[in-house]
Amino acid sequence: MDACKEAKRLEEAGQSHLLRFWAELSAEERVEMTQDLRDMDFQEINGFFQRAMKESGREKQEKVDSRMEPVPRDVLGSVVSDRGLLKAWEKEGLLHISQSKVAVLLLAGGQGTRLGVSYPKGMYDIGLPSQKTLFQIQAERILRLQQLAEQEHKSRCSIPWYIMTSGRTMESTRDFFSQRNYFGLNKENVIFFQQGMLPAMDYNGKIILEGKGKISMAPDGNGGLYKALRAEKIIDDMQQRRIGYIHVYCVDNVLVKVADPSFIGFCAQKGADCGAKVVEKTNPTEPVGVVCQVDRQFQVVEYSEITQATAEKRGADSRLVFHAGNVANHFFTLSFLKEVVNTSEPHLLHHIAQKKIPFMDERGQLIQPDKPNGIKMEKFVFDIFQFAKKFVVYEVLREDEFSPLKNADSQDGKDNPTTARRDVMSLHCRWILNAGGQFVDKSGNQVIPSPSLVSATGETLQCEISPLVSYGGEGLEDLVKGRKFNSHHPIIIDEKGNLALLKNGY
Ligand code: UD1
Repeated sequence: MDACKEAKRLEEAGQSHLLRFWAELSAEERVEMTQDLRDMDFQEINGFFQRAMKESGREKQEKVDSRMEPVPRDVLGSVVSDRGLLKAWEKEGLLHISQSKVAVLLLAGGQGTRLGVSYPKGMYDIGLPSQKTLFQIQAERILRLQQLAEQEHKSRCSIPWYIMTSGRTMESTRDFFSQRNYFGLNKENVIFFQQGMLPAMDYNGKIILEGKGKISMAPDGNGGLYKALRAEKIIDDMQQRRIGYIHVYCVDNVLVKVADPSFIGFCAQKGADCGAKVVEKTNPTEPVGVVCQVDRQFQVVEYSEITQATAEKRGADSRLVFHAGNVANHFFTLSFLKEVVNTSEPHLLHHIAQKKIPFMDERGQLIQPDKPNGIKMEKFVFDIFQFAKKFVVYEVLREDEFSPLKNADSQDGKDNPTTARRDVMSLHCRWILNAGGQFVDKSGNQVIPSPSLVSATGETLQCEISPLVSYGGEGLEDLVKGRKFNSHHPIIIDEKGNLALLKNGY
């Protein structure tokens, strides 16, 4: 490296300590470190740090809480209270899909720290009988939806799938898709791109070293999307494909309705440029952000940023005042995204998360701190809601659409592989009932599946329907209508529509 030049740059930015162990590095380590340093704009990073630290803090938090207001009724659509309009929204959404105007964008750059796996979360198999991973389930829902739109409108169409990865997840994600032949999707319509990374910093704004020649880096939050959309020329790609609407979602919701036609149709009919799907938050401590207004601007106040007192507030009807739980499913028009990417996004502040960050001390010892010693800076995907000219909110049922995989099974029984698997199978059991099938116990008595899937006689119902056969419960009548299924035999409907009852469980 041009050591003098880099050393000068670091000195000017107050980050000279990064070269503290330079003399001890091997030639290879020096090359790697040089590359890392060259890619970093220290003045910009220092600026991010100073602005984020200034704007965070208790006083600001208290002010946000006092300025929060719930979502007004006039921007809300609901699958329950607007049931009569659902068909029309779905029809409109399917029309746009059939014209290849809808794309989906998956945020998959996170590190899956809470789940505790070293590979990308989308590669996780939640233990369904089919052993499908989250990526495969989502891919098959896209395939089925394309088919439904084609059948309805008699025209070939495609739903491009943009997948945002990070330095940590790119290679393994790409390899996974390519080894599995893109799960039957056209390779040209699966587009990977990479978000940026930022260094972790201590409370004095010094970048943290996690090895003698290694800077502690992390992805810049799922709001790093907007910078990446520009840098990786994704907006240009969307324009070339004449995309009009984009459904952005997170990787870990096993019930996600990818490119949900009703959601797309609702937002499009309302003329919205930006929309968010929500479920009712019933537990104040649930780790979901709340969609609300702050100073009359739409925003998500994240679960880590709301005070307990505000989260616990209840109205006269005893519902939580801030009950619009963000399920991380967002709708954007391409023109809105273009505007944001080009003008507003660079002005957004980073959120700060205080973390225990392993670091090299002055003697070159790696220290694992037992309390937070620094911060990671992230932008959030919903930070751009405030720029919307017409914002809408779409409320759906939790049991139909939201079961996030966040934790490993050992932790407190919530949002883990067991709950994810149970929620998929519970939904599929309800599809069978809705399509005219019945469950009976060993004595032939009818069994009504409870949400936990455990029948009154203690049997656990198990049912998995391939997304290639049904996207949202449709198309099952011919297979199940009028049939009685023993509740103690798992039911599998595979990709060819074959129905199997597993006599020995799985
Ligand atoms: C997220 C939402 C929260 C919502 C909850 C629902 C954000 C900031 N928060 O919280 O409001 O109620 O989901 O489950 O969206 N990711 C990246 N790059 C990153 C970091 C994350 O692509 O740098 C992706 C992850 O891969 C994942 C998604 O963003 O798909 C959400 O990340 P996660 O950290 O799990 O968000 P939560 O804290 O659960």
